[in-house]
Amino acid sequence: MKETVQVKAPSNIALMKYWGKDNPVLQWPANDSLSMTLNHAHTICRVGPLDGGSDHAIKINDEVVTRASNERVFKHVDMIIKELGEEGYLQVDSRNSFPTACGLASSASGFAALTVGVFGCLKGVTYTRDMLASYSGVQKLAALARLGSGSAFRSLQGGFVWWQRGASALEQKVRQVLEPEKWLIHDFVVLFSDKPKSVSSTDAHKLAWSSPLFKPRLAGHRVRLQQTLEALKERDFRRLGMLMETEALEMHAVAMSSRPPVFYFDQEVSEFLAWLREERQRRDLPVYFTMDAGPNVHVLCESKNVHHVEALLQERFPSKQIFHDAVGRGPVIETAFLSPEL
Ligand code: PMV
Repeated sequence: MKETVQVKAPSNIALMKYWGKDNPVLQWPANDSLSMTLNHAHTICRVGPLDGGSDHAIKINDEVVTRASNERVFKHVDMIIKELGEEGYLQVDSRNSFPTACGLASSASGFAALTVGVFGCLKGVTYTRDMLASYSGVQKLAALARLGSGSAFRSLQGGFVWWQRGASALEQKVRQVLEPEKWLIHDFVVLFSDKPKSVSSTDAHKLAWSSPLFKPRLAGHRVRLQQTLEALKERDFRRLGMLMETEALEMHAVAMSSRPPVFYFDQEVSEFLAWLREERQRRDLPVYFTMDAGPNVHVLCESKNVHHVEALLQERFPSKQIFHDAVGRGPVIETAFLSPEL
């Protein structure tokens, strides 16, 4: 059965980072990670059967991509078709609600949406919805999405999501540790650049092993992850914030001390981070940052402080583009396409 479906899948921001892989082909990470699924940053992907043609017809953000220009996406579609014992070509139209490839985890929402979309097209909406609603179904979809992009593994669920690394490449688990309704955390994404990042995360993951800081990081990571889980359980935002800042800076320290080094942010961003810390101290305001592999900063706070933080950011950085996001739900799949626009 092939039907046209549309999937909306969220992006996520890692509070505990996936950085470095034990096996880059099977996407077995070097450590556990934990993220917050986002409410506004998402991908909408429409997938349908293609009659005729000699390959898939794929558009990303309104641009036609070819096997030569984006082999990764074509191979991902091929892989799922094969996995399901199907054949033929598909048409795919995928759009992000935010800038692509600048460290805003577009690959997480993109590959999550693509995976669920291809599955939905080939297996039907009801079957795929049931999968999204069951533990084993989510594991299966997430495992496929992960082969496209590691962080997509965590975009199959809403709220706060833990990627448990497991004892082998096949034993990866993804688990929602807190539903989105249980703790309304806001995320202001401060855009310092919307240009594609200088070094892709795929390349930077490989370089992590060359950093003298990487093995010590791995040795201490389990403890930090446990502390993060405790902070989530206790809704202790100050503790969570300190842990996530340390984690982000450690990830960037590993990147900067890799050979060759990878610098994702500059002086302007460093000054912003220092300013945020000063404001936090001066006003006793629980507001904390994290960053992925890019120069853009996620500023997180609880609902009760959202207006205060927004006003501070606007006053100090009136010309900066800032996206307001918050914790959100997992992917949804639909057959009626009433709101394809982003
Ligand atoms: O999914 P990838 O291969 O783009 O790696 C993501 C790496 C970070 O975004 C920096 C951290 C994470 O856990 O999402």
